[in-house]
Amino acid sequence: MTNQAVDATPAEKGLEGIIAAKTSISYIDGQNGRLFYQGIEINQLAEHSTFEETVYLLWHGQLPTQAELEEFDRQLKSRRSVPDELVELLRLLPKDATPIEVLRTATSAMSAFADDSDNTSQEALVQHASSLTAVMPTIIAAWQRIRQGQEVLQPREDLSHAANFLYMLNGEPPNERAARVLDIVLILHADHGLNASTFSARVTASTLSDMFSAMTSAIGTLKGPLHGGANEQVMRMLQDIKSPERVTEWLDSALGQKKKISGFGHRVYRADDPRALILRKIAQDVGEANGDPLWFTISEQIEQRMGELKPNLPINVDFYSASTYHVLGIPVDMFTPIFAISRVAGWTAHVIEQLANNRIMRPASLYTGPMDVTYVPIEERA
Ligand SMILES: CC(C)(COP(=O)(O)OP(=O)(O)OC[C@H]1O[C@@H](n2cnc3c(N)ncnc32)[C@H](O)[C@@H]1OP(=O)(O)O)[C@@H](O)C(=O)NCCC(=O)NCCS
Repeated sequence: MTNQAVDATPAEKGLEGIIAAKTSISYIDGQNGRLFYQGIEINQLAEHSTFEETVYLLWHGQLPTQAELEEFDRQLKSRRSVPDELVELLRLLPKDATPIEVLRTATSAMSAFADDSDNTSQEALVQHASSLTAVMPTIIAAWQRIRQGQEVLQPREDLSHAANFLYMLNGEPPNERAARVLDIVLILHADHGLNASTFSARVTASTLSDMFSAMTSAIGTLKGPLHGGANEQVMRMLQDIKSPERVTEWLDSALGQKKKISGFGHRVYRADDPRALILRKIAQDVGEANGDPLWFTISEQIEQRMGELKPNLPINVDFYSASTYHVLGIPVDMFTPIFAISRVAGWTAHVIEQLANNRIMRPASLYTGPMDVTYVPIEERA
């Protein structure tokens, strides 16, 4: 019996090059290493914008006026608190749960505390997006304090999104430089075309499930080391290498064993990721300013050696973000959650866009198994 399905066109492995959605949220020019949010190049946003303004841009398609930004900021600030019951729920989790597991779990639980969580009207989606974006930093800061046996801090409305997160994490407001560094990092990670976690969010949303479910799917997808989990792997690599002198030996051995080096390579970029170039400068500045340049130095040497060994593998966003977070005093297992507290802006923008013109995402697969196999009763099986 022939398999009648085999004449279907097979998709590229990993869906490479497949266009699965139309979007006006962000555009990656992979050949030239350029990234745009709603048409504005990332370098301009990193230099002039704030995370709050960038979120508004992603959701509304244009930069806000001063009055719109103030109102938007006020709304985000008013939604930063986590329900007490949710904090109690976090306390029940094992203390060795990773922050990304906790964030995924708490994001899912948030729907039970939200009014109208199943409402997928455009107005309700924006409200849910705003609540989730506002509350995610509070959740992971709360987890960090809970697992260290410290008091959970209430968010402060006099601080920016980035500064308030660092305050809730460390118990004291950050200096201006640290707050601005995190602000830029959040801008840089906010959206990136149809990456795996964004695709995941759009697939979930396309079934007319809810925003909270879409974000839970997205966080679960981001967690993997081939995607958002790579920044943690980069730091573990730097800690394993320990000194610039060991870079060559370590890298040659890893590549000899055909290991993938985290922080390098990308499906879309054939030139350097523009976010990585901005982060390289930030990592250097923060390292020098905090008197801890070692991690930047090791990173720079890795980049140099990789350029000799694998000239076609450019650095990606995760490479220099690792040493930046580390020097800011952020624990390694919080790196991927920080990616999530930024990317939630893009994920939610994509869900809003998907549901403005939805059709359920339901691709085909190419069946390669047998056909018309006869059922054999269990007592007759060999
Ligand atoms: C990002 C990534 C998942 C893209 O995957 P992809 O588009 O499917 O590319 P592939 O894994 O097919 O890579 C193509 C080739 O480059 C190699 N390669 C890709 N990334 C590599 C890396 N970081 N280190 C060493 N080799 C790498 C692959 O082994 C493969 O070689 P081959 O053709 O000889 O088998 C991949 O580059 C990777 O795993 N990078 C490390 C993890 C990372 O930093 N992820 C964050 C991305 S923002």
